[in-house]
Amino acid sequence: MKPVTIADGVYSLRVNHFNRKLFDSLIPLPEGTSYNAYLVKGSEKTALIDSADPDKAAVLFDYLKDEKKIDYIVSHHAEQDHSGSIPLVLERYPAAMVVTNPKCKELLMTHLHIPEEKFIIVKDGETLSLGGKTLEFIYTPWVHWPETMVTYLREEKCLFSCDFFGSHLATGELFSVEQQVYQPMKRYYAEIMMPFRSNIKAHLEKLAKYDISFIAPSHGPVHNNSKFVMNIYRDWAVSEPCNKVLVIYISMHGSTYMLVNRLVSRLQEGGVCVEKLNLEQFDEGRVAMALVDAATIVIGTPTVLTGPHPKAVYAAHLANLLRPKAKFVSVIGSFGWGGRAVETIAGLIPNIKAEVLKPVIIKGMPAEADLKLIDELAALIVEKHAGLVCRA
Ligand code: FEO
Repeated sequence: MKPVTIADGVYSLRVNHFNRKLFDSLIPLPEGTSYNAYLVKGSEKTALIDSADPDKAAVLFDYLKDEKKIDYIVSHHAEQDHSGSIPLVLERYPAAMVVTNPKCKELLMTHLHIPEEKFIIVKDGETLSLGGKTLEFIYTPWVHWPETMVTYLREEKCLFSCDFFGSHLATGELFSVEQQVYQPMKRYYAEIMMPFRSNIKAHLEKLAKYDISFIAPSHGPVHNNSKFVMNIYRDWAVSEPCNKVLVIYISMHGSTYMLVNRLVSRLQEGGVCVEKLNLEQFDEGRVAMALVDAATIVIGTPTVLTGPHPKAVYAAHLANLLRPKAKFVSVIGSFGWGGRAVETIAGLIPNIKAEVLKPVIIKGMPAEADLKLIDELAALIVEKHAGLVCRA
């Protein structure tokens, strides 16, 4: 593999993982993913920006086969998909030093047992000259761990952003294409970034003062349209949610399904966009992506023994972890002889700071009076969504 030139003295060492099935053993990867390292060559020094997942270290070293000297390894993030090959790089280039912040150093020592004397610590805003190439380090905690930072290469106006602005897309194209990268970026954002929306808002403001020609993330292609990328992040992390209801449901004997269908029909008649996901074919990625911009989440569940269906429990737990910006939640479903489906679901989602709209839990197969309750819930959602727009 040959390094691919992005700009003068700046090279992409992208390690594609086309056939990886799951990220974090959780989120399906229909278009694979990649782990991107970069090389920046100044007139005096050479810096490697991050590394690659150790499973793919051989590809990284193939890129580096003609590289005689690496002076610095900039480590933005201690998670192993970017840092895991650093010990191997240090073996190959024993004079190289790891440049990072104090928190990342601590985590790299814990996770990878890199010795303390191998680190150069940089402060927020500090610079490092490679000779005609100036790296500026910018602390951006919580995108995605507490130690994360990014690096701005002043001369080439290139932002090395690590996880920030990444996408789950393995591709041979150097630069992203907006229509192609949008969904893989959303899939990435939904799992990795969404729980940290308030940090993202602050980081977008911090980065607004930089003139950025390229965003070089550590997953997916390089972006040469930074405005597009910043705008979609602003939309997902900062803007009001969409006029959209996410209905995640499962049904055992059809009663919950009847309630769901009635709700969906009434919502659509009221001009609300609906995404309906059946948990029988649980796709955590689809659920996570739908959570990014839905203003309302409705969980539909039958009662299994005394509680909600286990798949509904899992979906509620996942939604709670991802902290979506939904404003309203509700639960609909049925029971045979009793149970505590609503209380259990409510107890599972304390992180979702949303108004709970009156649940509809009915006994047995829905009668006309039960369907009227669904109509009332739909009417309430339509009313609550006034002023929201459907952008998805
Ligand atoms: Fe791509 Fe948080 O590591």
